[in-house]
Amino acid sequence: MSRIFYVNGSFVDEQDAKISVLDRGFLFADAVYEVSSVLDGKLIDNKAHLARLQRSLAELSMAPACSDEELVSVQNQLIALNNVQEGLVYLQVSRGAADRDFAFPKNPTSSLVMFTQEMPLIDRPSAKTGIDVISVPDIRWARRDIKTVGLLAPSLAKQQALDAGAHDAWMVEDGYVTEGTSNNAYIVRDDNVIQTRHLGSEILSGITRNAVLRFAKEEGYRIVEEPFTVESVKNANEAFFTSASAFVTPVVSIDGHAIGTGKPGSVTQRLRKVYIDTALQSTDL
Ligand code: PDD
Repeated sequence: MSRIFYVNGSFVDEQDAKISVLDRGFLFADAVYEVSSVLDGKLIDNKAHLARLQRSLAELSMAPACSDEELVSVQNQLIALNNVQEGLVYLQVSRGAADRDFAFPKNPTSSLVMFTQEMPLIDRPSAKTGIDVISVPDIRWARRDIKTVGLLAPSLAKQQALDAGAHDAWMVEDGYVTEGTSNNAYIVRDDNVIQTRHLGSEILSGITRNAVLRFAKEEGYRIVEEPFTVESVKNANEAFFTSASAFVTPVVSIDGHAIGTGKPGSVTQRLRKVYIDTALQSTDL
């Protein structure tokens, strides 16, 4: 059965899911997006994703395509139409179509596209084995707090990691890890200290990050929001990353150096379990 997509007011088959070649998302990456996870057919922490979407739009002076209530309604209709039990809903708002000009169009009409991706999120091999990362220079633009579709730099970094036989890249700027190509990065040190970079324009304020740090505090871990080096990753007890699609996933090596035992650590596994258990009980984390 083919997937149903949503494009500017219509639910359509993939072959009819089309936007203008003049869409500014296509020509200028003038678009923002969100990825929300779905468990048991329900959106997880979606209010927080939509709040971040509104912030991204506001930072770019882009008009919302519609109200949050309408967005949620379309998201849920797509989940139902595509019968998604576990997976993702992708949502993208662009400044719309206008003749190519670097300046914003005078009266733009935003365009809104959504689709679903059915995939296992809980039962994933990477969660059991952990993943290998390489470190790469962070060559992205300076407003990574805005979730734009300008994703060529992280896409290049991800491919570089795959070509090197690893799974992902952790990006480094001024000697410190910023984040993963599509996730936030953490180390566990001194047993109960969890360290992750502080929020700012250098990284995306992850929705999963926010929930996981809250759960970690409740579990009695000490949270340190400070940048860390690749050297401190090599010397950490554990490392992991978070995102809406990966929840909490162990990182077991960086640049070929085993981290801790070289196996997923107990703190990481505990936080993954707490995240999933909580999400299965209540959709707003
Ligand atoms: N990426 N940092 C970056 C650069 C990201 O692209 C993402 C999410 C995150 C984690 O944010 P969250 O916890 O809200 O998913 C951090 C999504 C999943 C993606 O691009 O597919």
